[in-house]
Amino acid sequence: MLDEIEIDGTVIPRGAEIAMLFGSANHDPAVFDTPDRLDLTREDNPHISFSAGIHYCIGAPLARIELAASMRALLKRAPTLRLTAPPERRPNFVMRGLKGLSVEIG
Ligand code: HEM
Repeated sequence: MLDEIEIDGTVIPRGAEIAMLFGSANHDPAVFDTPDRLDLTREDNPHISFSAGIHYCIGAPLARIELAASMRALLKRAPTLRLTAPPERRPNFVMRGLKGLSVEIG
């Protein structure tokens, strides 16, 4: 964005540095149905994981291919893969990764 912008009453001046919280944006209930559900078939999916605009991730097409291939390989090896405990997130504001993921494969 090259101009000053107002978002929900807050003016962000032209040239200001901002930090985006991607995790919270991708879980916005105003944008996504069942935002906390991993739904690989989700069609209306305006996520911003690869950013937007002129710095949009140049590796996004490769990342999509890699993810599809790895998911296919995982599900082929472990077709009955399922969670054995609720996922626990790291207590981090920006990088919302998991502490671990407990699963059963057979
Ligand atoms: C799931 C995997 C990936 C995610 C979530 C991701 C995410 C992102 C995001 C959010 C940005 C924007 C950063 C910013 O605005 O400052 C970005 C930029 C970029 N990504 Fe990725 N990325 C992924 C994979 C890749 C891969 C596989 C490559 C290269 C093979 C790559 C190369 C780049 C490059 C070169 C930029 C800078 C683009 C620019 O500034 O014009 N990314 N990525």
